[in-house]
Amino acid sequence: MEELINRAAEALSRSQHTVALTGAGISIESGIPPFRGKGGLWEKIDPMTFAHIDAFKRDPALVWEVLVKEMKGMIDTARPNDAHISLARLEEMGILSAVITQNVDGLHQAAGSRDVIEFHGNFAWLRCMSCDGRCETREADVAQLPPRCSCGGIYRPDCVFFGEMIPPGALTRSQLAASQCDVMLVVGTSALVQPAAFMPIIAKEGGATVIEINPEPTPLTSSVSDFLIAGSAGPVLSSVLETIGANGSGGASGSTR
Ligand code: OAD
Repeated sequence: MEELINRAAEALSRSQHTVALTGAGISIESGIPPFRGKGGLWEKIDPMTFAHIDAFKRDPALVWEVLVKEMKGMIDTARPNDAHISLARLEEMGILSAVITQNVDGLHQAAGSRDVIEFHGNFAWLRCMSCDGRCETREADVAQLPPRCSCGGIYRPDCVFFGEMIPPGALTRSQLAASQCDVMLVVGTSALVQPAAFMPIIAKEGGATVIEINPEPTPLTSSVSDFLIAGSAGPVLSSVLETIGANGSGGASGSTR
């Protein structure tokens, strides 16, 4: 593992334009469970029954009760971990130019990352399905479900349900960032959900070094990634950052952001 950490640190030290693609695995150390695998959310609830837009339209109170309230409870109390903090630090050092995240928990921003592309929307805001008015999730009155806007319309989380499009701005910006980066860090994603999982392929085709950080291999591992650092995001990214510091590289000043 040490050799791979050194390789990652070297690639990042040389990089002018690193982009990270993150998934649920990066927030596990913050206490938010992933979607797939042991203990994953989709093991407890069927995504097509509770996380599809048609299910929400059919019975918003049920989806709020089963899925949204549970997520709200976890996200309200979660704090960024060493992995989120390390990515924010890499941005500060002028190495990382953007984070594309599939997560809706807002932990990258809480850690200090400024350029965060929320590929699947975010959970911080609710949107009225009638008037498009918005309200902060933590302010929402969930005593009665589904919560309603002052216009009487139903509030939905401002994140992407199955069966919905990726927000066009997020998709376009992600594709651009992926095509322009020279290093892509792929952290804590199973790379099973499209089109997010296509971003490392765009990066690779553009000539970037693709580095995965994940305890398990993914479909990208043998075909797209240059190498996999098989470990937890927090300790691995902290070690990479430490190694960059020890090698005396403060990052690519004058990066092309
Ligand atoms: P998944 O739950 O599919 O995958 C989580 C990944 O994190 C797995 O590959 C794990 O091996 C890895 N992992 C576990 N512990 C880790 C740790 N400590 N450090 C780093 N990695 C770790 O989550 P996503 O790939 O994010 O979409 O899922 C993608 C999308 O599927 C989500 O955005 C969500 C879901 O359905 C929507 O809801 C639209």
